[in-house]
Amino acid sequence: MATTTGSFIAGGIAACGAVTVTHGFETVKIRLQLQGELQTKKDAPRLYRGVLHGVSVIVKNEGMRGLLRGLNCAYFYQIMLNGCRLGFYEPVRSTLTSTIYKDPKYQSFGINIFSGASSGILGAICGSPFFLIKTRLQSFSPFLPVGTQHHYAGALDGMRTIYRNEGLKGLYRGVGPAMVRTGFGSSVQLPTYFFAKRHLTRIFGMKEGMPLHVASSTASGFVVCCVMHPPDTVMARMYNQTGNLYNGAFDCLFRTVKTEGLLAVYKGFFAHLARILPHTILTLTLAEQTNKWMRKVEDRILPDNIKAKI
Ligand SMILES: *[C@@H]1O[C@H](CO)[C@@H](O)[C@H](O)[C@H]1NC(C)=O
Repeated sequence: MATTTGSFIAGGIAACGAVTVTHGFETVKIRLQLQGELQTKKDAPRLYRGVLHGVSVIVKNEGMRGLLRGLNCAYFYQIMLNGCRLGFYEPVRSTLTSTIYKDPKYQSFGINIFSGASSGILGAICGSPFFLIKTRLQSFSPFLPVGTQHHYAGALDGMRTIYRNEGLKGLYRGVGPAMVRTGFGSSVQLPTYFFAKRHLTRIFGMKEGMPLHVASSTASGFVVCCVMHPPDTVMARMYNQTGNLYNGAFDCLFRTVKTEGLLAVYKGFFAHLARILPHTILTLTLAEQTNKWMRKVEDRILPDNIKAKI
């Protein structure tokens, strides 16, 4: 085991590596989610016609830079989320288990899920401003714009501009659906992962190892995407607005469904899937490597009395 700081760094590097590869799909997803907002199907523009079309149009018009807009915000967000998960999961879990079961080592499925969800939600709160600016940077396009075009020079400029014009409230716009989204995702991730793993071993006789991990995280990623996407769409639209187009997340949800139909909350679903699946698999495989490196580094630099405690 690496130290907490060590796992934080190792996990952060793994998550950022995964994000670098999948960020382009996230950009396409956001543009698909915003496209045709509050317009009926026949009036809605179709500048982006799906995942592959979206990727190719963006690369053609804006280059790789277009796909990777807001990447540094995505890094910050991942580090925040990862840090909160790592920092709060274990304390929440052991406090709850020791009050309920009088034994902090006991593993309760319900408590583990609750701890995962609440630490994810905390991460969403800390990371929301980064996600907001990321969304706005990604929807900006000098060629085929969808959404309000916010001209931020970069992440920091975005922060400063929003804070100057709207204060802290502006930076925390859309934090409600962001919490719901991450809470949904974090609470179904582990149970579906273990469910898939159990069934793959039982029905297909798969053995512990890389293929089983990849298959289980693919199955879990699919379910995560299904439950997370509707609040994700609401969040993208709350992040896009600068005025008060919507009174709140529910208003956004109702009006979206009313004008665009029920399936509108699943706009950009395949782009989301194209981001989530490789993301989970990459994080999993990269984390194994970075953890190994981290342990090696710690073996070399940490004094013996700290190592003895790990
Ligand atoms: C984005 O927000 C603005 C308000 O700031 C709104 O006018 C617009 O319809 C929203 N959506 C799109 C796709 O532009």
